Amino acid sequence: MDFNETKQTYRDTIEQSIAFAGKGLDFFTSVKADYLHRIVQAELPGLDKPRLLDVGCGHGYIHPDLRRFGFDIVGVEVATEVLPFAREANPDVTYLGYDGTTLPFEDDSFDVAMAICVMHHVPPEQWPNFSREMHRVLRPGGIVAIFEHNPINPLTRYVVSRNEIDDDAVLLSTSTLRGLLKDAGFQQVATRNILFTPFASPFFRAVDRQLGWCPFGAQYYAVGKVV
Ligand SMILES: C[S@@+](CC[C@H](N)C(=O)[O-])C[C@H]1O[C@@H](n2cnc3c(N)ncnc32)[C@H](O)[C@@H]1O
Repeated sequence: MDFNETKQTYRDTIEQSIAFAGKGLDFFTSVKADYLHRIVQAELPGLDKPRLLDVGCGHGYIHPDLRRFGFDIVGVEVATEVLPFAREANPDVTYLGYDGTTLPFEDDSFDVAMAICVMHHVPPEQWPNFSREMHRVLRPGGIVAIFEHNPINPLTRYVVSRNEIDDDAVLLSTSTLRGLLKDAGFQQVATRNILFTPFASPFFRAVDRQLGWCPFGAQYYAVGKVV
C-alpha cells in the first residue's frame, strides 16, 4: 500500500472500519499513548523529555498526546506526502522522510523508538532489518515499543479484512515479533495484550492493564531494551 494515496482519506477510512466498536481513532490512539507513557515511566524513570523516534508516523495523530506527556518527538515516514499534514498539526515535532530501509540517524540517537501498526505493512523479508535499525538508533538503556494488530483476535481480523489499506497486511504473532526483537539484539523482550474493550472509563482502562497476559486483546505491544 502506498500511503501517499491515503493522505486525505486515512482518518475516514480507519473511522469507517472501526465504527462498529462505537469509538473512533482518537480513543485507540490515546490508549496507546497512555501505554507508551507508562512503559517509559517504568523503564526510564525520571527521564526529562525522553527523545522519541516514531517510525512510520503517518499523520502523527498520536503526537499531541505524547507531547502532553513530555516527549521530544521525531517522526519518520516513507509516505512523505502525509508529512505536511503532520507538520501542520504538530509544529513542535520534527518530521523526516526516509527510504524504509536505513533510518536517517546516527547510532545511539534516541531514548525510545516506537512503531504503531507499521510492521504489518513492511514486507516480511524486511522485518529483521526493520528491527535491527530500531536497535541501532537507540542508545544503551533505550527502549523499543512496537504496537501491532493481534492476529488471533477475530474482531481484529474482521477489521483488517474489510479495510482497503490493509490489503497488503501480513500480521505478526506475538512470538514472531518477540523473536525478531531478540534476533535484533534487544533484551528483556516481552509482549502484552491490550484493547480488550472500547470503553474509556478509568475502571475499564485499569481492567485492560490487568489483562495483558490474556492472548485475546485487539492489539498488543512488544517491548525490548538495549543493554
Ligand atoms: C497504518 S499506518 C500507521 C501510521 C501511524 N503509525 C499511526 O499509528 O497512525 C502505517 C504506516 O506505516 C508506513 N510504512 C510502511 N512501510 C514502512 C517502512 N518500511 N518503514 C516505515 N514506515 C512504513 C506507511 O507509510 C504508513 O504511514
